[in-house]
Amino acid sequence: MERREVSFRIQRYNPQVDRAPFYDNFRIAVEKGITILRALNYIKEHLEPRLTFRAFCQAGICGSCAIRINGVSRLACTTQVWDVLTGGGDDPILIEPLDNLEVIRDLVVDIDPIMEKLKRNQSWVKPAIPEEELGRKEHIVSDEQFETINAASDCILCGSCYSECSMMQVNRDYISPPVLLKAFRMNNDTRDTLGCQRLREVTTDNGLWDCAHCYKCMEHCTKKIPIMDGIHHLREEAFARGMTHTEGARHAQAFFDDIRDIGRLKEVTLPLRTKGVLGSLGMVPLAIKMGLKGRKPPLLVKRIPDIERVRDIYDRLEADRGGEVVGAIHELPLRSAPRSGGCL
Ligand code: SF4
Ligand code: SF4
Ligand code: FES
Repeated sequence: MERREVSFRIQRYNPQVDRAPFYDNFRIAVEKGITILRALNYIKEHLEPRLTFRAFCQAGICGSCAIRINGVSRLACTTQVWDVLTGGGDDPILIEPLDNLEVIRDLVVDIDPIMEKLKRNQSWVKPAIPEEELGRKEHIVSDEQFETINAASDCILCGSCYSECSMMQVNRDYISPPVLLKAFRMNNDTRDTLGCQRLREVTTDNGLWDCAHCYKCMEHCTKKIPIMDGIHHLREEAFARGMTHTEGARHAQAFFDDIRDIGRLKEVTLPLRTKGVLGSLGMVPLAIKMGLKGRKPPLLVKRIPDIERVRDIYDRLEADRGGEVVGAIHELPLRSAPRSGGCL
């Protein structure tokens, strides 16, 4: 069995006694095949009993052991030490708590904000069956119906995508990727009756339309769920159900129209079309600042020469709507389910 000495640089912090986070170094002998969680257990049992971290199933199912390893959010119980060695194995492995959440102690973070957001957005199935008949009557979900939410149902709420989300870095009130994924999952569950209510909630401020499309959530999902497919489908659902009155929806529509019509964005009129006359007035100081720095969007934007090719892409996307999403990384990509009725 291959065995080597490995160094771990672990972030420590007890907010009750420490002024700021600091790092402790540990060097231990590790066999090939050992996970980061087992290494942490060894350090706790033999070197530093106060080291605090969370873990339960040890099988990638409960989501409780998510931490940052070498700067990337991952599950400690499914990540092998050998797979994260750098510098020929001589560099210490950096172990830190998840980002975008408050540290309770060492590697344990407070996940209450995620739970609060799940509650606020009603991330559960509300069946059509009356409460008194629940448990007596069945609501069968066919294999085909379940397929639409199969991948999204794999979410173990580990918080890795929450930790990696760029929007969370700048706005802790942002709804967050796991909550959007749950909204997609519940809104496409054939037993659920809360679709419109949930859609209204997720399209308010700090919601669905604030996603910055950086794809980091999807890149770092520990269960390889195509989270962005869920977010795109929710946006499509908002349009399909007539929820086009929000700033985010108007902003997306303006982009859609400009690119289809002339192949370029008409930046000058974008605030007006997104925020309306009154809302745009608030942007005047920003426009003046940008103008003083030489950033002046052109007043007249010409149509690109080969606009027909762009329109062709629109036509093809329109024809594909409702089909499998191109580029999904999960072997069972999220699909849109038929939706009925407007929400207004
Ligand atoms: S794509 Fe959106 S939800 Fe995902 S990490 Fe980026 S900002 Fe967050
Ligand atoms: S979507 Fe993926 S990364 Fe995010 S909480 Fe669920 S399993 Fe974890
Ligand atoms: S301990 Fe449960 S997912 Fe790692």
